[in-house]
Amino acid sequence: MKITLTVNGEQHPLDVEPRRILADVLRDDCHLTGTHLGCEHGVCGACTIMVDGQAVRSCLMLAVQCDGSSIRTVEALAGPDGQPHPLQRAFSAEHALQCGFCTPGFLMVAVEAFDADPTFGADPDRIAGLVGSNICRCTGYEPIRCAIARVAREQSGTES
Ligand code: FES
Ligand code: FES
Repeated sequence: MKITLTVNGEQHPLDVEPRRILADVLRDDCHLTGTHLGCEHGVCGACTIMVDGQAVRSCLMLAVQCDGSSIRTVEALAGPDGQPHPLQRAFSAEHALQCGFCTPGFLMVAVEAFDADPTFGADPDRIAGLVGSNICRCTGYEPIRCAIARVAREQSGTES
């Protein structure tokens, strides 16, 4: 089927088999390999991206379902000058990644949460709920929680 995905502001006209999942098409056809595949059945969250403003597991969507949609992947988080996104800076500062395989998914769920409610990071329970949606085998989660809380403090002006 012929479809068009708008990925990180760029149009990708594609010819894809209807059976192919969105994550594979992003990685193999759009050459955006920042989106990772872990479990491939909707559990780990490593493949999380945003479709029309909502975080989704891209292993659970068919690419053809997204014809005409606007997609945002981890590659879009850095600024045009290459400066990392505040969440990327905070993950680095708080040592919130080791192997980094899970990191794109955690970044995208956190981006969605801040977009939906800029105050969400002030509540430790909400942060804990959010990070519980994805699996990390390395960090023990605490540094990830700290990174998200750091961004919340930065945005509220209580951390420089
Ligand atoms: Fe999609 Fe694990 S690879 S949720
Ligand atoms: Fe290795 Fe999360 S940093 S799985």
